[in-house]
Amino acid sequence: MKKLLLIPMMTATVATADGYTQADRIQDMQNMAQAMQNIQSGFFYNNIDIIKDGIKVLTATIDNVRPTDEELNSKDIYEQWMNNDLKMTNKIKKKIKNKAQDIEDRFGAGDATQALQAYSKITAQCLNCHIRLRKW
Ligand code: HEC
Repeated sequence: MKKLLLIPMMTATVATADGYTQADRIQDMQNMAQAMQNIQSGFFYNNIDIIKDGIKVLTATIDNVRPTDEELNSKDIYEQWMNNDLKMTNKIKKKIKNKAQDIEDRFGAGDATQALQAYSKITAQCLNCHIRLRKW
């Protein structure tokens, strides 16, 4: 029993010592992709609670997204410039959070069409970062 309790504590310690790693960011990305899928399911099942849950995960997770500690400490000037484009990153993050709120407000008010439009705008912002930052 004691052993089981120790595991989450150790995980938390390791995460703090490493700061924000690429593995953390990949995990955040996967959580956001899942949240987006859940929001979409909420549309189809006409279930505002599923939508709200997805939005909660999405907005909390996008807050974490940033250059990794390794990228911030990179000695390569070009890489630093690429990765530290925080102004763009913060702008995209803000847009995603605004549109997430829009989804909740619009769907809650019975306007599924506008909610879907806000959803597409979030998808566009996800790809905006992937294209501009990662050249994907
Ligand atoms: C600020 C930039 C940025 C934003 C915004 C962003 N991403 Fe990403 N995304 C990345 C980067 C960088 C990677 C590559 C992962 C890495 O190397 O850290 C990535 C990778 C991914 C991956 C692949 C993860 C894997 O398993 O390899 C998924 C899925 C993903 N993003 C989903 C999303 C979704 C969904 C959103 C919008 C809600 C989003 N991303 C918004 C930067 C961003």
